[in-house]
Formats: sequence, C-alpha cells, structure tokens
Amino acid sequence: MKRITIAIDGFSSTGKSTIAKQLAKELEYIYVDSGAMYRAVAYYAMQQGFIGPNGLDAAALVAALDGISLSFQWVPGSEDAAMFLNGENIEAPIRTLAVSQQVSPVAAIAEVREKLVAIQQQMGAQKGVVMDGRDIGTVVFPEAELKLYLTASADTRAHRRYKELLDKGEKVSFEAVLKNVQDRDYIDSHRETSPLKKADGAIEIDNSDMGLKEQFERILSHAHSLIHP
Ligand code: CDP
Repeated sequence: MKRITIAIDGFSSTGKSTIAKQLAKELEYIYVDSGAMYRAVAYYAMQQGFIGPNGLDAAALVAALDGISLSFQWVPGSEDAAMFLNGENIEAPIRTLAVSQQVSPVAAIAEVREKLVAIQQQMGAQKGVVMDGRDIGTVVFPEAELKLYLTASADTRAHRRYKELLDKGEKVSFEAVLKNVQDRDYIDSHRETSPLKKADGAIEIDNSDMGLKEQFERILSHAHSLIHP
C-alpha cells in the first residue's frame, strides 16, 4: 500500500499531537512529536545553566549542541514513546510550564533547528510518518502529501493547556498559561528562521468548536483519498 507523509503544523495547543497520534495509530505509521525535541534542547539549556537571569546564552548552547543526543523510546506500561536526552527519560519535565516558558527562544536559534530538522528528516525518510510541529510542512517535509494547519483561538488553546497541566498536578494559573501561549505564538511566528506559517497546499482546520471524532474522520478521509487515489 502507498505510504505517505503527513505534516501537521499550528500554534501551541491546537490539538496537533492528539490528531497525529490518532492518525498514526489508524494507519500504522510512526508518530514524531518534533516539539518534544525542541523542549528537550530547552531543558538541556536550563540544566546546563545556559538560561539565567540575563536570558539565554545562545552561543554557549550552540557550542554544546554536539553533546546532545535525542531519541524517542518506548517505556514499558506507557502508551506513547518518551523523549530521552543523553539516555535519560525527560518526558515529564519537558511538559512543564517552566520549559514551555523557555522553549521558543531556544527554537529560534538557527543551529538548533538545523540539527533537529536533520534528525526529523531522517526519521521520516521512509515515509509512513505523521509529524507535528511548526515547520513540518514548510521546511522539514515540504513535499508531504498531506499537510494540515490547525488553528483555534488563544483562549480556547490556553484553557486546553491549563486543564492538561492541572490534570498532571502542576500548580499554575490560567493567566500564566494564557500568557505563555500568546508569547510563544508571537515568537514562533515572528522568528527569522522557519517561522510558523501555513504551508503551501496545507488544509486549514479551525477546531475551536470541533469535536475530536469529527476532526479525525475529516482528516482521515483526506489521508485515505491520497493513499488510495
Ligand atoms: O505542545 P505545544 O503545542 O504547546 O508545543 P510543542 O509542539 O511541544 O512545541 C514547543 C515549542 O517548540 C514551540 O512553541 C516552538 O517554539 C518549538 N517548535 C518549533 O519551533 N518547531 C517545531 N517543529 C516544533 C516545535
């Protein structure tokens, strides 16, 4: 059967990973969460002291990039693959608001993107991949057969993320989550290297008021029409 590449881009908390996982499971494709990789690099920068009161020391981080090894690994008892940094499972800490507050400036560094994009392209080289992020349809896989661009209002997205963080036991305020969503929206779409934008040929879906089932069925039918033309 023909295998395709599915690229899903959009702002924070637009439900990219939910639909990506649903599609990967249904089609038996691999799922790659590219955001987890940028979060891992931000976490590394925090651990190494490259992010301090005066902000991010981009030069120090770039000089240390060769010392970063990233992989997705299955952990027994867990449904999804976890992000590993230099052999350590960092899945939980990279999802915290503290990392979300540092990740966008890290992801704006051209050398960071160059390293991660090369890994992502290798992961998807055989097709049969669903990857989500900010530049998947524009830079990582511009030739992807199916490109999606998900949107929803900032308020809707912040409510989703706030609930997720509370469910994980993190004590955060809604205002802090909303501010983070808005700050990242701005940085991610205004940076010089690979800013978030709708890729040529991408299907735009505003899911502010759309149920998960409806969204899944709509997107799956697009995928089927490309797989069995
Ligand atoms: O989960 P959420 O939608 O909030 O974000 P994410 O997909 O985990 O991505 C975290 C951050 O990584 C984004 O805000 C971007 O700054 C960066 N990112 C990126 O620049 N390019 C990608 N392909 C994926 C994420």
